[in-house]
Amino acid sequence: MKINEQFEKLVPNYLFADVAGKTKAFMETHPQQEVIRLGIGDVTLPLAPVVVDAMQQGCEDLRFQKTFKGYPEYEGYDFLRESIADYYKSFGVKIEPEEVFISDGAKSDCGNIGDIFSKENTVLIPDPVYPVYVDANIMAGRKIVYAPSGQQENFLAMPDPKVKADIIYLCSPNNPTGAAYNAAQLKEWVDYALENDAIILYDAAYEAFIREDLPRSIYSIEGARNCAIELCSLSKTAGFTGVRCGYTVVPFELVRGGKRLHDLWYRRQATKFNGVSWAVQCAANAVFTPEGQRQCRLNLDYYHENARMIARTLDDLDIYYTGGKNSPYIWMKCPNGMSSWQFFDYLLENAAVVGTPGEGFGSCGNGFFRLTSFNSHEKTAEAVERIRRLLS
Ligand code: MLT
Repeated sequence: MKINEQFEKLVPNYLFADVAGKTKAFMETHPQQEVIRLGIGDVTLPLAPVVVDAMQQGCEDLRFQKTFKGYPEYEGYDFLRESIADYYKSFGVKIEPEEVFISDGAKSDCGNIGDIFSKENTVLIPDPVYPVYVDANIMAGRKIVYAPSGQQENFLAMPDPKVKADIIYLCSPNNPTGAAYNAAQLKEWVDYALENDAIILYDAAYEAFIREDLPRSIYSIEGARNCAIELCSLSKTAGFTGVRCGYTVVPFELVRGGKRLHDLWYRRQATKFNGVSWAVQCAANAVFTPEGQRQCRLNLDYYHENARMIARTLDDLDIYYTGGKNSPYIWMKCPNGMSSWQFFDYLLENAAVVGTPGEGFGSCGNGFFRLTSFNSHEKTAEAVERIRRLLS
């Protein structure tokens, strides 16, 4: 028996496990200090009431033989797939309900989607980026090429005709930088993918945070149905980080090697995934009702206000940052030339505030630091006050 030696090429820990470990060690040695977490992008507000009601009703259904449900459909219940297709329609994008696959979140799908692609493909991944894309492809043994998307590139990787790739990960609004593509920029990627017969894996997990006139879905770009799979999640949109529900859209037009990628993904999911529970799909469906949208929007506005609070403080301190407008993340430059991990330690030890070192998202993230807007108003206000005192 041999282990998958690719694991030896991974950094020792998943980024957020490292951050959690260092935070725990600090708390053990400083029990008096109240640590404020602006690190992992985990929501703090409770679920929208209409979502909880739907989940409770879903549980009630399981109480009675007449309404009991066993295994869910591998690709999700039709009612939820239809609601998601209608949601896309609300921002002018047409997808078919049958193209939607319900899952337990975008993280799993971002990693698992690789099952339908050969190991021989070259994968293009922006740097900095959500670490799951990199780690999942290292595990699979694929060749990775990085597209720099640092300050010089306005934090948005753009295609380089000299670089050839078969699979391209894009995330907009971006985790970690908060930068979001406009339609013209996305069109360049779609054109590049069509010219190179490549597939774009478009992570739209933060689309609900978009407040400017920017694409909510890659399918708003002409040609994208022939080259893109879109992955999305209710984690941030509706506070489902613990509940777990997301979806992936695989258009019927995507045919490679004579096979529909839709059919390959169905085959993969039917083999390795047993679907999302009835009660959770009922809850997810409530997110897409008018009242669900209204209530979820209140939570998103709340997080936006936290982002504004962080941004105001960095403005006052004259610290460069980006993000926060169409994203829950603020991507700031580390002060005084500190590296990302140096600033992580400095902030933790002197202000008991936890953020995420930019370097953890890729080498182009070094010298940057990510703060999330997902804490409460009170804790965010306290954290920025501590940062202000420390850096003034
Ligand atoms: C993050 O903080 O980047 C995210 O919460 C991680 C995730 O969505 O898995």
